[in-house]
Amino acid sequence: MTSNLTTVSYIGAAILFILSLGGLANPETARRGNLLGMIGMTVAVLATVLGPRVSAAGIPYVVGALVVGGALGIVAAKKVQMTQMPELVALMHSLVGLAACLVGFASYVDTSVQFSGAEKAIHEVEIYVGILIGAVTFAGSVIAFGKLSGKIGGKPLLLPARHWLNLAALLVVIVSDRAFLHAGSIQDGMTPLVLMTAIALLFGVHMVMAIGGADMPVVVSMLNSYSGWAAAATGFMLGNDLLIVVGALVGSSGAILSYIMCRAMNRNFISVIAGGFGTASGAPAAAGGGAQPAGEVVAVSSAETAELLRDAKSVIIVPGYGMAVAQAQHTVYELTKVLREKGVDVRFAIHPVAGRMPGHMNVLLAEAKVPYNIVMEMDEINADFPEADVSMVIGANDIVNPAAQEDPASPIAGMPVLEVWKAKTSIVMKRSMASGYAGVDNPLFYKDNNRMLFGDAKAMLSEIFGALTA
Ligand code: TAP
Repeated sequence: MTSNLTTVSYIGAAILFILSLGGLANPETARRGNLLGMIGMTVAVLATVLGPRVSAAGIPYVVGALVVGGALGIVAAKKVQMTQMPELVALMHSLVGLAACLVGFASYVDTSVQFSGAEKAIHEVEIYVGILIGAVTFAGSVIAFGKLSGKIGGKPLLLPARHWLNLAALLVVIVSDRAFLHAGSIQDGMTPLVLMTAIALLFGVHMVMAIGGADMPVVVSMLNSYSGWAAAATGFMLGNDLLIVVGALVGSSGAILSYIMCRAMNRNFISVIAGGFGTASGAPAAAGGGAQPAGEVVAVSSAETAELLRDAKSVIIVPGYGMAVAQAQHTVYELTKVLREKGVDVRFAIHPVAGRMPGHMNVLLAEAKVPYNIVMEMDEINADFPEADVSMVIGANDIVNPAAQEDPASPIAGMPVLEVWKAKTSIVMKRSMASGYAGVDNPLFYKDNNRMLFGDAKAMLSEIFGALTA
């Protein structure tokens, strides 16, 4: 393949990636967006492998790597549960970071291309920055994987003087940069480069360890952004324009998503990155922080729930992580159909961080064929709860916790929540009184107009469906 044809293919692939991002912005066009992304990636890989930068002798290695990597990807994609998706995404971000580090070291020790003067300086800055971003992304993503999979506790680790530690790390990175750029030989430059890598790895670990469980959504999208910048840095090191464009697309879309997430959770982006959120006034206690809820918990049966739903004119369903765990979306849809046939107005209220990844609930409801026009975003529906006869919470907890509004000492204080308690009756479907992801108690369960339907969401919904159709 000539270099001109490779360039044209790269431009085509870049356009496909932009169209793909556009498609992914809406559940109705998301499938098409995914398909365009897959076609774009196929074009990109073929253009690179068959392009002038890969020699014929190198092709068997590339094909071998593609087969091994592709096989691992297929196995992982088939094995992973929908609820484990954020962990898988975090793990993949870590691989992008690791790749940036390895490419950086390889570029540095590669003597086949000789640079001099300004070119040499630019190339070395690319290597230094690429390894820096890559190492932070790698270490941060591994810790995020640990936190999301429950292998590491969600409680933020707050080291004394942690901001000073970060500042000291930054200073060492800057000083090492000078030493690296002025090194006389590869051997001399290796010491500051390795020192910076070690510091970047520690910083990545520290940054994510300091973030509270409730703020993990922001971390996931932030690491997504970092992985994009790491890929762009790799593109600079390898002189690959497409990698630079794609990295910048991922980096900037991840940054925008992080900003949207912060706004949705009423968090300040800088404060989240600096860590410590998820603790009350900096106290190292995420779980159980805030006041103990007062009142009595009233349980209902599925038959009683069916009665309440049958008598209702307007029902708002709030799905959460538990619906995903129970894989109850299809049963929810069947129930919705029956209620709508009976003339009940049923709508869904989606919190921006419901579940474990952005758009988690939208994906599940779309998969179950719930009509898009009854699926509402939080801002569209929150004011309608006072008019609803029943709000039915299916496996959600943090996103319907009134403590966010009522208790300034709560670790989730200030986070916008769906005001389900304002409906005439709220019903919470979950298996126990256990807390949600943020590890805080939920006063909703103790409110006078709230009823608890204890059990697995899918089993309970099937029982309600049975009672309604009997
Ligand atoms: P959570 O607050 O995590 O609550 C989910 C509830 O589902 C749990 O309290 C659990 O209670 C219940 N549950 C689990 N399995 C169930 C089953 N089989 N049947 C019925 N209930 C079940 O979820 P949420 O309200 O969706 O809030 C999301 C939380 O995750 C937020 O704190 C958010 O910040 C965080 N987070 C979100 C994301 C993104 S991007 N969306 C990423 C990472 C973290 P039982 O154990 O008693 O059943």
